[in-house]
Formats: sequence, structure tokens, C-alpha cells
Amino acid sequence: MAIFNFSDEETLGKVASVDTTNVIVEVENVDQLKRLQVNHLAVLQSSKPGQHLIGVITQVTRKRGIEEVVGDGINDQASELNMCRIALIGTMLDRDGEKENVFRRTLESVPEIDANCFSLEGENLTGFMRTLSSISADGNALTLGKYTLDENAVAYLNGNKFFQRHAFVGGSTGSGKSWTTAKIIEQMSALSSANAIVFDLHGEYSPLVGEGIQHFKVAGPADVEDKKTIADGVFYLPYWLLSYEALVSMFVDRSDQNAPNQAMIMAREINQAKQRYLEENSQNDVLKHFTVDSPVPFELDVLMARLNEINVEMVPGARSGSEKQGEFYGKLARMISRLENKISDRRLGFMFNGGADVLDFTWLDKFVTAVLGSTDENGKAGIKIINFSEVPSDVLPLIVSLVARVTFSVQQWTPSELRHPIALLCDEAHLYMPQRNMAESADDISLDIFERIAKEGRKYGVSLVVISQRPSEVNKTMLSQCSNFVSMRLTNAEDQGVIKRLLPDSLGGFSDILPTLDTGEALVVGDASLLPSRIRVGEPHNKPNSGTVDFWDEWQQPAKDKRLSIAVGNWRKQNI
Ligand SMILES: Nc1ncnc2c1ncn2[C@@H]1O[C@H](COP(=O)(O)OP(=O)(O)OP(=O)(O)O)[C@@H](O)[C@H]1O
Ligand SMILES: [Mg+2]
Repeated sequence: MAIFNFSDEETLGKVASVDTTNVIVEVENVDQLKRLQVNHLAVLQSSKPGQHLIGVITQVTRKRGIEEVVGDGINDQASELNMCRIALIGTMLDRDGEKENVFRRTLESVPEIDANCFSLEGENLTGFMRTLSSISADGNALTLGKYTLDENAVAYLNGNKFFQRHAFVGGSTGSGKSWTTAKIIEQMSALSSANAIVFDLHGEYSPLVGEGIQHFKVAGPADVEDKKTIADGVFYLPYWLLSYEALVSMFVDRSDQNAPNQAMIMAREINQAKQRYLEENSQNDVLKHFTVDSPVPFELDVLMARLNEINVEMVPGARSGSEKQGEFYGKLARMISRLENKISDRRLGFMFNGGADVLDFTWLDKFVTAVLGSTDENGKAGIKIINFSEVPSDVLPLIVSLVARVTFSVQQWTPSELRHPIALLCDEAHLYMPQRNMAESADDISLDIFERIAKEGRKYGVSLVVISQRPSEVNKTMLSQCSNFVSMRLTNAEDQGVIKRLLPDSLGGFSDILPTLDTGEALVVGDASLLPSRIRVGEPHNKPNSGTVDFWDEWQQPAKDKRLSIAVGNWRKQNI
């Protein structure tokens, strides 16, 4: 049964002009004109039978011309020019092969001059939204909530397309990004072998518990002291897992005149230390093929001892029996002291203080199983929420991208027939994937990794969901690789501009609603959604700790005792 039933009396008006995707309709029905709203939908008669064209109203005008004097009265009706502009977005087919009522994002025909136009409201709207929804709702469909236009119709997204080519969730602070993310996580966790890592920078997602969800934390100073392990949900990211470039960026000061020498010696000595480790552990297979970047443990003490040796090395002089300073004498001093500083920094305990465990050859297997696996001894556990709240901000990009790199490498080295897709949900992404021109040189490594995943991840089944309050500060390459945008309220003009540029031209006006969206309301555009849709995101069952404080109410309550001395104590101990 066709979903549209329009009678002639309901006609809004007739098509007056058509260009490629825009149509101007001369509105005859003034009552309807008053009810028209920008961003609502309209239906146009198509030149082909069994088809209707669907469009978004982008402009409504009511103009009075020069008033004409007819007889002794004024006839302004005749001089009115009432118009609306409509951007065409798709075609509704009554039938497509076996299927009835099929919506396509293409324009299968164009309307003719004088074709009838109807405003899509009431029953017709509900029917249309329902068809849209059920078209994409095959199997266990992904949904964020209901359409704002029709609160009875669930807005389904195509879960394959949403993750296939990366998604972006943007919105000003407090607009509802974390809740939306929680809603997505909740639905993923219901699938039997979903696989995802959530970068939780503030420990916001700790209330998200349930089957299929696991929590991990990057070890903080207190966890290191208490010797917590992965069994306690605490993990280490040992220094030897860092790529050579990452190690250099951490330990070599580029402005030092000896930087090239230091980097070269670092590469040579790390290679040596890895070789020694492999020999001692009889890993002959690996020994033949490893490189400085291979994830092979090495002992830091061995490396330090060698660096110190080279730094004070004396070599035989020209005269027999004499000695002179070696080529690198004193040239490594600054690098050594940088290394010593980092090693003794308690905040970096997760890298340098993992103890004997992290030097075990099987450590990486265990780590990867925990972080990338989709089951554990209790059953499914595919969503891994990693709390980075105790990682110091200067190394945060390095550490977050390290987890991303491990994920990507593992996917790359998995034979394609065994590969299982994984999504990386990157909250507060502007912190670790900034625009190149705003980035510090140390961020380059992190950017290289994320850009690579953005460009090549699809082939290896790695998907990114980039979440940020500042679209304009997020790396452009990343954004341009996303094909789905969930945009929540955006108040900053620059940020709005970024989203606006990503919308198709004909829908440019759609983005004008960005600053007026309600909390928890989103504009969803992209190949996962049949139509650019305004969606009221449903509440997740378990809500993230978004830390919304009711200042005025709190200030009317007595302040808590001893809170300041407790805070000072925790700050000193670096533990809460
Ligand atoms: N879908 C929703 N329905 C109702 N209320 C919501 C919804 N989403 C968010 N809110 C409200 O808005 C508050 C802030 O939401 P949220 O923490 O998701 O914002 P955010 O965009 O992640 O902010 P930030 O950028 O600061 O992290 C929540 O505490 C909640 O009260
Ligand atoms: Mg948030």
C-alpha cells in the first residue's frame, strides 16, 4: 500500500522553477504557508508514475507586492508572492521489485513545472518516517533515538555504514556527546562479539557497567605502588612498546645540537638491547627478523648502562699508550638526564615501573588478549573502556596513540580470514588528534598513527568514532575521512563552519539549526542515515559521570567538612 495519500485540497502549491536540486514552489494555500517551517519535509509529484520526490524546505517567503486598487477595495491577494524553496534529497518509490515503499537517496527524476507539492505532516509524515526506519532496521539495528519531527518514529542508523567509514560526534560542552556515546556503547555491548576500545580521558564512563563491558585503567602512581595488575583492571604500557620515533620524541630534545647523534645511538643501542633479550630468552625465530620497532622487550638498565658507557668512553689516541675522548664523549649527557628524569617520574610509573611482569616475553600476548579480545572468562566482554585519567597531559597523545597503534598493528598482522572488526571510540579527540598547525612536534607521532588509521583502517576493520567539543581543533584529515556526522548543539561559529562545510551544498541551510539544538538533540548526516535527520537521542540506561554541577543549588547547602585538606593530601600523594 502506498504510504502517501494526498488529496488535491491539501496541495501546498505548484512548482514554479527547478534547477538541479532546488525547487521553488509558489504557495497557493496561505493557511498552510503559515504553518510551514524550515527543515520540514515536503513531497513533490514526480514526472514518473509511482514515484514521489522528497525535499527539505530551506526557505519560506511571504511577500506583498504593490497593492492594487480594484474597484473600491484593495485586493492584496493578487499581489502576494508566497514561495518556498525546497532542496530535493531523494525519491520515494511505491514499489521497487518485490519491495513496497522504498526510499532512495538519489533523484530518479525531477519535478515538472506546475507539479503539485505537499507539505509532509501528520499521518503522511509518520508513515514516511516509519518506512525510513524499517528500511534500515534489518536485524539488530543501531538507533540513537527518535526523530524530532515525529516522536513516535524510531530513527535507525545503518550500523555497518556507521562504523565502516568512521564517524564524528561533535557538540559544545554539555550538549550530550558522552551520553550519545554511552547510548552507542550500550547497543554495541548487546551484540554477541562486538569489539571496541573507548578512550575515556576523565573516567567519565565508569558507571557504564553490564554484560559485554570491561573497565581498565592505565596505572597511576598509587596503583604502581600497590602492584596492581591486569587482573585488577590496571595495566601498564611499557616503554619497549613505543615505536623508535616515539622513544626519540620522548628522550631526545630536538633543539639539542647533539640530537641526531643521540637518536642514532638510541636506535643502535635499543637494537642491541633487544637482541640481547632475544638471545637470553632463546627466541631464535624472532632474532632473525626483528627491527628496532618490533614489539620486543629490552631491559632499561642494559640500555642505560650502555649509554653511560658511551658518554664517557675513551679510545686509544694517536700516540701509543695515550687515550682520547671517544666520538660521543659527553654528547649523550642531556639525553641520559632526560631519561633518568622520566624513569624516576612517579606519574610515568605505568611505563617504567611495570616490574618483571612486563619484561616477560608473553606479556604482549596477555595484554593484547585483554585489550583486543571480545570474550573473557565470564563470557563476552568486547567493549573495553580504558581510563586515562592519571596519564600526565604532556604524554597523553603518545600513550593514547600507542594503544591505537597496538590495535592497528594487531589487525594488520591478523590473516584476513581471521580478522574481527574493532572500533576505537575517541572521546575528547581534540586533545590527541589536533590540527597539524596547532600541534606540538611531539604530537606528530600520535597524528601519524591516527591519520593512518583514518585512511587505511577500513581495509583492516578498524573504525574510528571521533568525539570532540571542538570540531575546528580536530585534525582535518581525520574529519575528512569521516562519512557520518552526529552533530549536537554547536555554539561557536568556527565549529559550526566545519560542520557546515561537510554538508552537501543543497543542505547548507540545515546547519543553521546547530546552535539551537536542545541538549541531547543531534543532527545526523551521512551514509548511515537515509536522510539527514534531527534526532532526539534517547537516554542511556547507565549514564556517564558528566559532572554537571548545580552551582546554585550546591551553594545553598553547607560545604563539606575537611574537603580542602583531603584534596591537598591526595594531590601530594597523587592518588584519590
Ligand atoms: N539524550 C539526552 N537526554 C537528556 N539529557 C541529556 C541527554 N544527553 C545529555 N543530557 C544532559 O546533558 C548533560 C551533559 O551531557 P554530556 O556529558 O553527554 O555532555 P558532553 O557533550 O559530553 O560534554 P563535554 O564536552 O563537557 O564532555 C548530562 O548530564 C545530561 O543531564
Ligand atoms: Mg563528554
